[in-house]
Amino acid sequence: MIIEKDVDRILVSKSEIAKRVKELALEMDEFYQGEEVVLVCILKGAVTFFSDLVRSVSFPVQFDFMCVSSYGSGSVSTGDVQIKKDLSVDISGKNVLLVEDILDTGNTMMALIELLKERNPKDIKLCTFLNKPARREQPIEADFCGFDIPDEFVIGYGLDYDERYRQMPYIGVLKREVYE
Ligand code: PRP
Repeated sequence: MIIEKDVDRILVSKSEIAKRVKELALEMDEFYQGEEVVLVCILKGAVTFFSDLVRSVSFPVQFDFMCVSSYGSGSVSTGDVQIKKDLSVDISGKNVLLVEDILDTGNTMMALIELLKERNPKDIKLCTFLNKPARREQPIEADFCGFDIPDEFVIGYGLDYDERYRQMPYIGVLKREVYE
């Protein structure tokens, strides 16, 4: 793949991803016990993880998609999110599981979860494939987490730099020279 020349090193390999997705699916199966869940893919970064995950869980699911962006510019995070694409399913009384690619400052998810709680779901949980605890600005943790990672610029498996590299089948660290 031409774009792989920009990868400094592989952080999470294809086989590690596949193994961890299966383990997460088992954790979720155990938790939901066959109840139906609305799985919400947070666009765009979570698309690849979402598509692997939905094929690994055993409980019945509904798919839905949301695209949001955090307002919090500058040094003060406002805790607001802008909804670019909203859910199509009514989540009232339902189990909702948000599927994210990465939990970084936590600003986006903190605000989104507050917003979705107002729609009266039965339950709302968060699954993130990657977690960067060193960057957290909000008191939020994922209920299901693939990997804790160091504070490095990661790409692939859905994650981008300037909309590129999402197609790579593993998580890589981007070479500094590409973004500096
Ligand atoms: C990324 C990621 C989360 C958010 C995490 O989305 O998918 O939604 O940033 O950051 P935070 O914890 O600091 O709020 P991004 O805005 O890059 O959009 P994308 O998924 O379309 O790439």
